[in-house]
Amino acid sequence: MSTEAGSDLVRALRANCERPFGDARSMPPGVYTSEAFLALEQRDVFRNEWLCVGRASALAQTGDYLTAQIADQPVVVLREPGGELRAFSNVCLHRMSVLLEGRGNVRRIVCPYHAWNYSLDGKLAGAPLMERQSGFCKDQYALPAVRCETWQGWIYVTLNDHAPSVATQLAGLTSLIEPYGMTDYIETFHEEHVWDTNWKILAENFMESYHLPMLHRATVGPHSKLEEMECPPGLPAFNYHWITKEATLPIGNAHPANTRLEGHWRRTTALLAIYPTHLVTLTPGYFWYLILQPQGVGRVHIRFGGGLAPEFIDDPKAAEYMGTLKALLDEVNAEDRRGVEAVFRGVHAPLAKPGHLSHLERPNYDFARYLAHRIGAA
Ligand code: FES
Ligand SMILES: [Fe+2]
Repeated sequence: MSTEAGSDLVRALRANCERPFGDARSMPPGVYTSEAFLALEQRDVFRNEWLCVGRASALAQTGDYLTAQIADQPVVVLREPGGELRAFSNVCLHRMSVLLEGRGNVRRIVCPYHAWNYSLDGKLAGAPLMERQSGFCKDQYALPAVRCETWQGWIYVTLNDHAPSVATQLAGLTSLIEPYGMTDYIETFHEEHVWDTNWKILAENFMESYHLPMLHRATVGPHSKLEEMECPPGLPAFNYHWITKEATLPIGNAHPANTRLEGHWRRTTALLAIYPTHLVTLTPGYFWYLILQPQGVGRVHIRFGGGLAPEFIDDPKAAEYMGTLKALLDEVNAEDRRGVEAVFRGVHAPLAKPGHLSHLERPNYDFARYLAHRIGAA
């Protein structure tokens, strides 16, 4: 695939995005299938943006860590003894093996290849049998730091030294969702999955509730009231939509002890799509999320997690409700998986063609415009 093919797609995407929303179409099929377009995304989106990697509450103890990948760069985020979160290149400084995998807890980062080991501040602490090498000095080695910030309890990392802080970029969202107090929500489950679809197809699926009655007809579809759904225009770094309703499980509405949320907010669920890959369903009593990481055009790694607002954390009934909710989410996700994998097969078809978006797909229009603005701008 040539860069030219990528540029043609960027042009087609931009042409699509110049239409007013009332005449907007979905994105051209090639943006989901082209290696060249993915290379542009890696360069202009993933290497430049703040990327969410998980919940700070999941790294509570000294030495707790999680790993992630930004384009081709493996990254580790860990809780250091001073209590701060730090992120480093997760690549050994000897012969460049990847260091840590998955999530866990370590006292030192030990390379699985020749056991060079690093303290939690990234400095090389030990390197077996290196004493005879006169040119070697371990003090000259420290894992390169990666920028890491938290916002509302989420951990974000970026390879971009110049990106404005997450708090600056998401200031508009902070004020919108302020009363939920999402910072204090505690993660109670976390899983990782890989689905056979393009990362944007899954992101777009999350952004719109238009598919609920049909794709989720066996689960949440019959309860979804699309006429009560509000889809305001998005902002530069995120889009959102909301619905106010009586929740089927008590944890969906505010706990009686919750004094932060007032009026209709006590029954309002917000669906947040923070660009490029952080998708959150935020309710007064619980939250769940997806964090996406492309693995090629046709595969997406998914961090799927969720938990409870602080008022519900100590309530044993809440844990039971969370269990019920998790079982439902698993079913809903299985339906979404079928949906987004079917779209990924469809977009390869020679006769595939983007159709008009519904008014409930306003977030998709904004997401496409975000990508059109970012990609190929350099
Ligand atoms: S590559 Fe890490 S110790 Fe050799
Ligand atoms: Fe869905």
